[in-house]
Amino acid sequence: MSDAAALMDRMYRRQRHIYDASRKLYLLGRDAMLDNVRARKGDHVLEIGCGTGRNLVRLARLYPEATCYGLDVSAEMLNSARHSVARAGLAARIALAQGDAASFDAKALFGRARFERIVISYALSMIPPWRQALAHAIESLAPNGSLHVVDFGDQSGLPAPFRLALNRWLAAFDVTPRTDLAATLSDIAGSRKLQVVASSRLKGYCVEAVATRIADS
Ligand SMILES: C[S@@+](CC[C@H](N)C(=O)[O-])C[C@H]1O[C@@H](n2cnc3c(N)ncnc32)[C@H](O)[C@@H]1O
Repeated sequence: MSDAAALMDRMYRRQRHIYDASRKLYLLGRDAMLDNVRARKGDHVLEIGCGTGRNLVRLARLYPEATCYGLDVSAEMLNSARHSVARAGLAARIALAQGDAASFDAKALFGRARFERIVISYALSMIPPWRQALAHAIESLAPNGSLHVVDFGDQSGLPAPFRLALNRWLAAFDVTPRTDLAATLSDIAGSRKLQVVASSRLKGYCVEAVATRIADS
């Protein structure tokens, strides 16, 4: 087992049972990001760092003509995801696999190497080689694909005491806000002819960024 898998399994072995109820209070902006995915008929939608499968179930319901895939490094989280997906009756439309965001082999895991939509929700802030994970996600996009990211933001509009308390609390869960997420994604995507639109939300509490292929003129 990799260090990342062991760390996440330790973190989530018990937490996963209260994960969905507790995280809805502070993993803000997820549903708005999922609404913007706009998957079409026949699209393949991958969530990297899918956790309990909460977003995958929502994606499968929002986009009934798409097929969904979830990847996570933690076997514990994937156990929860399998239960959620089965409970929702969506096992035929959502495939799950264990893998590392920075190095997964999608073809071996899911039988396909490219996806029309890729989603990363509040996972980059927990992945030390997050730039590598972003680059790998971009490489895994189909030619007409888009990457949708939501995560903690730069907190620039939040009061200083709130920021201090928030960052201390996040650190206890091994979460590091990637304050240069949008700029880093622009660098990685720009060199591959993708355009990035980033929106800071809730006074910088979270950021949503979308990378899409620039249409040939
Ligand atoms: C905060 S949770 C977010 C889960 C889900 N995306 C959501 O929005 O509810 C972060 C997830 O990223 C996973 N993760 C952490 N490091 C990872 C890595 N290197 N590769 C893949 N998944 C990873 C964790 O196991 C966990 O399930």
